[in-house]
Amino acid sequence: MKLYNLLWWCLVYASLIHATHSGGHSYYKQAKAKLQSISKSYTRNTIYTLDNIDGNLYIPQFNNETKNYDQNISSELNPTPIELTSEVVPLLEQAISLNHTRAMVMLADLYLFGNYSMPTNYTRAKELYHQAVSLSANGHAYFMLGFIYSTGLFGEFEVNQKKANLYYQFGVENGDLNSLSVMAWRHNRGVDVPPNSTVGLEWLNEQQGQRGVNYDIRISDFNGGLYGDKMSETPSSIEVQSRVYSDLKSQLEEYSVNTNDQEFMAYYFQGLEGLKGDYFTPRNYTWAFEQFSECVQLGVDLYEHKNTHMSSVVRMFLSSCQARLAKMYLFGTGVPQNVTKAKELYDESLKVQSNAEALNDLGVIAERGLLGPANETEAVNYYVKAVKSKSHEAYRNLSLLLLKMSGGTPHSSEFRKDIFTNMKEAAYSGDIEALFHYGNYLQSGLSKYAEPDSEVTCPGTIQYYKIFIERLTQFFAPHLKYAFEELISGNFKNALVGYSIAAEQGFEPAQISAAYLLYQLQPLYSPSEAKTFNRDRVNLAIRYLERASKQGNDDATVLLGDLFSGSYTHPPNIPSPIDLDHERAFKFYRIASDRHSSHGAYKLGEMYEYGVGPSINNSIDYFMAKRYYDSSLQYKERFDLEKRATVSKSDFAGSGGYSKAHISLALLRLRIKYVFNKSAFKGNHESEGGWLNAFRKVKKNSNVASKEPVSKVDAHAEGKTYVNEQGVENYVEDYDIGDYLVISLTCMFFIIFFVQNIIRSIRRMRNNRQGNEDEDDDKRMEWQPVEF
Ligand SMILES: *[C@@H]1O[C@H](CO)[C@@H](O)[C@H](O)[C@H]1NC(C)=O
Ligand SMILES: *[C@@H]1O[C@H](CO)[C@@H](O)[C@H](O)[C@H]1NC(C)=O
Ligand SMILES: *[C@@H]1O[C@H](CO)[C@@H](O)[C@H](O)[C@H]1NC(C)=O
Ligand SMILES: *[C@@H]1O[C@H](CO)[C@@H](O)[C@H](O)[C@H]1NC(C)=O
Ligand SMILES: *[C@@H]1O[C@H](CO)[C@@H](O)[C@H](O)[C@H]1NC(C)=O
Ligand SMILES: *[C@@H]1O[C@H](CO)[C@@H](O)[C@H](O)[C@H]1NC(C)=O
Ligand SMILES: *[C@@H]1O[C@H](CO)[C@@H](O)[C@H](O)[C@H]1NC(C)=O
Ligand SMILES: *[C@@H]1O[C@H](CO)[C@@H](O)[C@H](O)[C@H]1NC(C)=O
Ligand SMILES: *[C@@H]1O[C@H](CO)[C@@H](O)[C@H](O)[C@H]1NC(C)=O
Ligand SMILES: *[C@@H]1O[C@H](CO)[C@@H](O)[C@H](O)[C@H]1NC(C)=O
Ligand SMILES: *[C@@H]1O[C@H](CO)[C@@H](O)[C@H](O)[C@H]1NC(C)=O
Ligand SMILES: *[C@@H]1O[C@H](CO)[C@@H](O)[C@H](O)[C@H]1NC(C)=O
Repeated sequence: MKLYNLLWWCLVYASLIHATHSGGHSYYKQAKAKLQSISKSYTRNTIYTLDNIDGNLYIPQFNNETKNYDQNISSELNPTPIELTSEVVPLLEQAISLNHTRAMVMLADLYLFGNYSMPTNYTRAKELYHQAVSLSANGHAYFMLGFIYSTGLFGEFEVNQKKANLYYQFGVENGDLNSLSVMAWRHNRGVDVPPNSTVGLEWLNEQQGQRGVNYDIRISDFNGGLYGDKMSETPSSIEVQSRVYSDLKSQLEEYSVNTNDQEFMAYYFQGLEGLKGDYFTPRNYTWAFEQFSECVQLGVDLYEHKNTHMSSVVRMFLSSCQARLAKMYLFGTGVPQNVTKAKELYDESLKVQSNAEALNDLGVIAERGLLGPANETEAVNYYVKAVKSKSHEAYRNLSLLLLKMSGGTPHSSEFRKDIFTNMKEAAYSGDIEALFHYGNYLQSGLSKYAEPDSEVTCPGTIQYYKIFIERLTQFFAPHLKYAFEELISGNFKNALVGYSIAAEQGFEPAQISAAYLLYQLQPLYSPSEAKTFNRDRVNLAIRYLERASKQGNDDATVLLGDLFSGSYTHPPNIPSPIDLDHERAFKFYRIASDRHSSHGAYKLGEMYEYGVGPSINNSIDYFMAKRYYDSSLQYKERFDLEKRATVSKSDFAGSGGYSKAHISLALLRLRIKYVFNKSAFKGNHESEGGWLNAFRKVKKNSNVASKEPVSKVDAHAEGKTYVNEQGVENYVEDYDIGDYLVISLTCMFFIIFFVQNIIRSIRRMRNNRQGNEDEDDDKRMEWQPVEF
């Protein structure tokens, strides 16, 4: 009887649970289906395109009351679909009332991210995440809670780093990848414990090595860089593939005027554009397939497989087109897979011209046995041939195949040296996957056979994993694409969420982007529309800038110095949201200067020249000022040379570079001060034998090291040979004397000019009196200033 009762209760209970659960679940499933249909019909209108974003990205004022940026274009441009609010949300709410946790997380996401133009409600989102994790563990919800507590959602809630750490930790324990990278960054600044890269590798293999567009960019680069147009020292993070291709195409076209050549070239580059896509145009495999097919067909039409009549340019592009088309057949991208067809095309391509890609892929066919039985010997032969043409894929494939043939135990293998060197070659030629394997090889100590002398350090090994992860932002920072899409739709609030998630995960460009959305004084402002800033948001911006600075971003470092020294000026009527701190400013300038930033050294020189800040006891030190101005000039010269050396990279805004006039001016100013205030220069350094001598000594002792490369580069650029250390010293002396000569010459020039002017005007006045009495009044005005 008792047993029967118990069983009965059990049944009732089980069915109850089932009822509530399945009830909730059916609502959830309906909501999900509805969302899917919305996602199919949802089209996004944008305010920015590739043509108008250049130098034009304007972040509006953030409104304290509406908790949004002051613009309402985005809600008009992309209205919320009615089904979303009238059907999806009620369905989810019903599921939630039956304690369905996945529904809670989904609705919370909608409220936080504002998918499909959903109006955001951060309060509700936070409640829902909390409710979800109170019922059952959920990695993503924990991660989002960690994010909410870490950022306070930009002034919406209290920041609480302890809670943030706790929730991120829960996220890690529940297998959330995003939490993992945040925690890795928090503990070790992302260096010592990278997230499990294996999963990234699996993802990359699923994409067939195509990682797509990299959205890990600094949005300030659209406006010429964080530090301002033409002033920034950090290279632009923005690279528009289609522009790179069109630049390349026009460069090549200059060399060959043959129309046939140009036709093949055009098809090839258009095909590549389709394969890669860029920020504004998604990849289009259909388009790519069409272009490569046209290219191949043109080859058949013009030459009917008689290869002898082709020009060398046609050969190059035709065989590349054939290999690309073959690859699309081989992997079934944009066309149903057909390995037979692929093989035919590869053979054709090799007949036109030997090319690494075709050889490598034939190796793949042989290795995987895609046509007939697998044949490792044949595969190795193909890879070796491809390696001779420097195919980074072939280096990697060869290394991996040799590893496989050694049964996965490289240390006892006869190929151990080849396994290592080939992978190293692949990693160094920019193969992303190879970075991962190379890191593994180093960790397992494989390098000792190939390079017995080189020392393997743990941080060195980790670096490869770190770069690997940074290259795979599409996988490790999945919110960056969303952030960019929201940005170009003018929805800056949502963009900020996306960028700051990636910023929390330690991606440096995202940190800059988030900081820029939070705090930016754009160069072009009129005082009437000067922006005001909320302290909470500015503090968060500073936090992100500091992190970016730690990762080596010089512009961020100098900007931080400017923020704390007050030279990042607000319009006078607006109080600065930052408490000035000259000591911190000094520290940042110092860091930048140590990293050979010209701006950093210049600002440091200014602090010494005017005696600003407790770090230098608020005392003027012209000696140090001169030293830093000189360094600034050197760094600037080197920077310009390096920039000229990399012109081929297609730049967005701000490719012009800035002039070094301000540094020369500061040096001149110092000289003049020296003339009028010699005592100030002697001061502390008198014992060392006067300012100039002391200065030379410092040059000799500490600056030779940093001067040498500059002179080397200089000499190289001018086609001269580099003179030794003695030469450097001479250079320093000449330099000082030369400067004084310039000053005195300038002075003389002005004096002569001035005297001549006076004489001339006196003469003319005499003429005037003698001759035309009714000379124009305004003409007489012209002489007046010199008259006295
Ligand atoms: C939208 O912008 C216009 C003009 O900028 C302003 O008058 C209006 O109040 C704004 N609407 C909302 C809902 O913010
Ligand atoms: C949902 O969960 C809460 C807290 O665990 C509980 O009090 C409530 O009764 C549950 N509701 C339903 C419909 O099961
Ligand atoms: C909303 O967008 C975010 C960011 O892309 C994404 O992670 C999330 O899954 C989306 N949510 C829904 C319900 O589509
Ligand atoms: C956001 O949600 C909270 C409750 O979670 C509600 O009180 C508030 O009215 C909502 N805000 C908006 C703008 O709908
Ligand atoms: C990384 O992930 C892979 C596959 O998911 C797993 O086999 C491996 O054990 C993981 N490694 C670590 C260190 O967690
Ligand atoms: C891709 O290219 C094809 C062929 O040119 C075109 O019809 C199609 O609209 C394109 N798709 C997209 C999404 O642009
Ligand atoms: C694959 O290509 C070959 C050669 O071009 C052709 O004969 C065959 O019909 C194709 N197979 C399929 C499934 O389309
Ligand atoms: C070899 O290279 C190709 C092309 O990059 C790649 O898709 C493939 O996965 C590599 N490895 C093997 C074992 O095929
Ligand atoms: C594999 O290829 C090599 C050379 O390409 C050939 O000599 C050998 O017979 C092939 N082996 C098999 C099992 O087909
Ligand atoms: C924003 O609003 C808060 C409270 O409403 C206020 O304390 C703060 O000063 C405001 N900030 C700005 C920049 O207007
Ligand atoms: C600043 O003053 C303190 C105490 O007078 C002194 O110890 C220190 O060396 C000075 N620092 C500089 C940079 O002159
Ligand atoms: C000369 O330099 C000292 C600082 O070393 C400064 O205090 C003084 O005002 C300067 N005198 C003139 C005339 O500029």
